[in-house]
Amino acid sequence: MLTQIEIKNFTKKYNENTAVNSVSLSVYKGEFLAIVGPSGCGKSTLLRSIAGLETPNEGEIIIEDNLVFSSSTKYSVPPEKRDIALVFQNYALWPHYSVFDNVAYPLKIRKVPKKEIRQKVHQFLSLVKLADKEERYPHELSGGEQQRVALARALIMSPKVLLLDEPLSNLDAKLREQMQTELVRIQKSLNLTVVHVTHDQSEAMELADRMIVMNHGEISQVGTPKEIYNNPVSPFVANFIGKTNLIARKSKSIKTTPLLFDELATSMHINANENTVLSVRPEDISLSLKYGEYKGRIERVIYHGSTTQYLVKYKNIELIAQTKSDSNFNQGSYVYFSIGRVVGL
Ligand SMILES: Nc1ncnc2c1ncn2[C@@H]1O[C@H](COP(=O)(O)OP(=O)(O)O)[C@@H](O)[C@H]1O
Ligand SMILES: [Mg+2]
Repeated sequence: MLTQIEIKNFTKKYNENTAVNSVSLSVYKGEFLAIVGPSGCGKSTLLRSIAGLETPNEGEIIIEDNLVFSSSTKYSVPPEKRDIALVFQNYALWPHYSVFDNVAYPLKIRKVPKKEIRQKVHQFLSLVKLADKEERYPHELSGGEQQRVALARALIMSPKVLLLDEPLSNLDAKLREQMQTELVRIQKSLNLTVVHVTHDQSEAMELADRMIVMNHGEISQVGTPKEIYNNPVSPFVANFIGKTNLIARKSKSIKTTPLLFDELATSMHINANENTVLSVRPEDISLSLKYGEYKGRIERVIYHGSTTQYLVKYKNIELIAQTKSDSNFNQGSYVYFSIGRVVGL
């Protein structure tokens, strides 16, 4: 795979506060990479530094074999020369410009001939499915449409890389879903390299070819959504990417049940020590009225449409189990349950 962006030993501090700590990563050509992590973990700092809007304290940034930043030689290519487009959460459209003029703007300031501008604006407004709205003003558009205008304006310069910082966070759930589908369609059709930052793990899984999970300014794990979901490297990742039940033998922060811990570790052949944490995905707990290795009580039933989640009280802990929605266990009743897969962390 060809590398589009290479970041080496990147550190950024704001006064005493280290926002990003010695991070190295590669972005491959044509991939949709999602950087995901809780608020404040350093995602925007990293993205803005790739665009040249922040100056790192340490490290190197290489875009398509060109060094664009080096802390050791104090070399920095200005943002407008990095061939990168950045779209933020607030779309930053010009309120007094029509859709056409907003999208045309980057070409106008570069004095591109009028005919070419017209042709390109039409091309990119069609791409984001807004060809019929070029005369409208931003306040006459929905949030999703405004975001698509911002996207067309970013793409019209044919950047090598598109950087997206929480671009869908202001949209309601249904629109967000539509825009996710649109984003992937546009990315694949242009064979674009996209780095998409979000705190929303389900959005990252939905969009990404590959994900980078960050926490406290550092990378926790890199992998495809499937790899990370099935084989998380730490309790943090297991809990952040999807839902899970964490079971510890001895822990201040995680509920402990030494007996269940020991039984699971033994039966699943997990080489556990005192500090190991076991992760059990809700769908790996099966419930039955008649058979099962353990017996618990249904505390709560949460109906999700295609699935149902049950909070099952077992000794001093509560486990989340997930079944298809044809199951029908009642709150307050006792059920047997078995655990099919456990990951030791
Ligand atoms: N301009 C700034 N001045 C001081 N601290 C900042 C600045 N920008 C970000 N930070 C701090 O750096 C850390 C990472 O911020 P940020 O990259 O915005 O996180 P994220 O995008 O993951 O929410 C946070 O602790 C934040 O408060
Ligand atoms: Mg941010």
